[in-house]
Amino acid sequence: MSDRQSEIRDVEALFAYELEAVYDMEVRLVDALDDMSQLATNDNLSKGFAIHRRETERQVENVEAAFAALGREPNRRPNRIVDGLLAEREGIDAGVADDALRNVYYRNAAIRTERLEITSYEGLLELAERGDLGAAVTEPLERNLAQEEKTLRKLEGLADDDSGLKSLWDDVTGS
Ligand SMILES: [Fe+2]
Repeated sequence: MSDRQSEIRDVEALFAYELEAVYDMEVRLVDALDDMSQLATNDNLSKGFAIHRRETERQVENVEAAFAALGREPNRRPNRIVDGLLAEREGIDAGVADDALRNVYYRNAAIRTERLEITSYEGLLELAERGDLGAAVTEPLERNLAQEEKTLRKLEGLADDDSGLKSLWDDVTGS
């Protein structure tokens, strides 16, 4: 075990280790959402990404508030899952020849990302509860979790009949 890993000796340290990866994720998603908002050609999807970009800027601040409540400096630990998600998207951006197919990919990638974020916050909140880390730590993370859940529902609802993604699918299938 490396020195770094052997520093994780209690729930609070494990929580902080995970929080560092979530911090990196949220910071990097601000730029990713900006890119996707500009590249998506479906209006609802593009606007949704722009809205969630602004929300994500506040989520970054909420994660910083959790660090502050813990009495720790905010530190970004490279999140390898996000590396993978962003690398996958780069592959699509380089290879897809059809805007409508890119829109479909973006919506699926956004759903995948929201589910990852939701799982990450649920895990953090469970650790915080077990470690009795206090409301000042958990409340900002609960706000982020609620926002991710709302965003996931919006993304899933985009395929309903009266939303923009119905037309997105029409573009792909030619119906
Ligand atoms: Fe987020």
